[in-house]
Amino acid sequence: MIAHHIRDENLKELGIKRIEWAERDMPVLRKIRERFAEEKPFAGKKIAACLHVTTETANLMRTLKEGGAEVRLCASNPLSTQDDVAAALVHHYGISVFAINGEDTDTYYEHIESCLEFDPLITHDDGADLVSTLHQKYAETKAKNIWGSMEETTTGVIRLKALERSGKLLFPLFSINDAQTKHFFDNRYGTGQSTLDGILRATNRLIAGSTVVVAGYGWCGRGFAMRAKGHGARVIITEVNPVKALEAKMDGYEVMPMAEAAPQGDIFCTITGDINVIRPEHFEKMKDGAIVANSGHFNVEIDINGLKKMAKKVNEKVRPFVDEYVLSDGRSIFILGDGRLVNLAAAEGHPAAVMDMSFALQALTAEYVVKNEGNFPKKVHDVPEHIDQWVAKIKLETMNTKIDELTEEQKEYLASWELGT
Ligand code: NAI
Repeated sequence: MIAHHIRDENLKELGIKRIEWAERDMPVLRKIRERFAEEKPFAGKKIAACLHVTTETANLMRTLKEGGAEVRLCASNPLSTQDDVAAALVHHYGISVFAINGEDTDTYYEHIESCLEFDPLITHDDGADLVSTLHQKYAETKAKNIWGSMEETTTGVIRLKALERSGKLLFPLFSINDAQTKHFFDNRYGTGQSTLDGILRATNRLIAGSTVVVAGYGWCGRGFAMRAKGHGARVIITEVNPVKALEAKMDGYEVMPMAEAAPQGDIFCTITGDINVIRPEHFEKMKDGAIVANSGHFNVEIDINGLKKMAKKVNEKVRPFVDEYVLSDGRSIFILGDGRLVNLAAAEGHPAAVMDMSFALQALTAEYVVKNEGNFPKKVHDVPEHIDQWVAKIKLETMNTKIDELTEEQKEYLASWELGT
């Protein structure tokens, strides 16, 4: 039996059904899998992945395995693991998984260790925990074997760029997040829809007529604000970047500091990558019954410890994923999913059709690393343009959408501008 640590193998059948359901919406990844099955680009290679253990990730793992890789997977967040998917991966698809929904911090890091134990050549991260462990504990050993590593999310790329600036990067990194076919779609449409989905599943609140406060108007915030507005909410944006704030204003939203938004909001969601965006001075002003969620990568955007100190009582799980904090003046504040990514804690993460592109990028960039035997400078690289373009082209094809092609005359005309003639 392959190495693994999961909750319950009996959940396997449900997991298989849900993985197959997601697969229907992942035609680009399917095309890659079919080619990998013939070409076996990863034959004899070991790949470790620290990603949300969801149905879409399962299809990426299948693709890498089909390409000949030996694969190990652990979770990139203790609350996002779908235990049925973990069971199916181990007991049906033959892929090693170390992940249990709700695992404590020690177990989370033990699972990362289990993934690194088999000395991978390639790694995939969502938040840079695997790469950070390699840098902190295995700089002289396992890190030296790594040919290249893919990073999925904004916060992970920020961590890696900080490592790069300090001159301490031990192997080449590839920022999947910065590819156009990733953040234009995954962060905006994926996070937008699934964050709303998480809040709805956790609360079943009517969005129409509510005031929704969105902290951060980056790619994810824009997507969520757009979807909340589409459901009939009055949407308020809080920002720290004047350009993004201006964009939000011209997109038709109200823009104000969190201190002013706090007494107005019915539902709050942070998506900034920043720390303590909502804190006691804001809780002080919130309405009774305010709902507070986070969709940024780490559970640091809401100061829950500060709220705990203010609360005279905490009623845990008044509904699944909802904790009630009763303040001394009798008001209640509801925190969703312990302040962790609400779209993964309370819903199922991004829809498969969006992850199709992100994970096509992950698979093709891993192949690119192997083809070049990891011969890249030790820095954070962009995904090659040809991979980004290919993913967009194939996604359009699978959506039965054609576009114009440049005529020879147009090519010459545009080239003349590039030459400055
Ligand atoms: P981004 O960099 O495009 O946007 C973040 C925005 O937050 C920026 O405009 C920034 O000015 C603003 N901001 C920073 N501090 C703030 C503060 N204190 N108050 C208000 N605004 C503030 O980043 P992106 O791609 O939108 O990602 C945001 C976070 O969401 C990251 O942590 C990222 O890793 C995470 N993420 C979560 C996903 C999910 O599934 N829930 C999917 C993709 C990314």
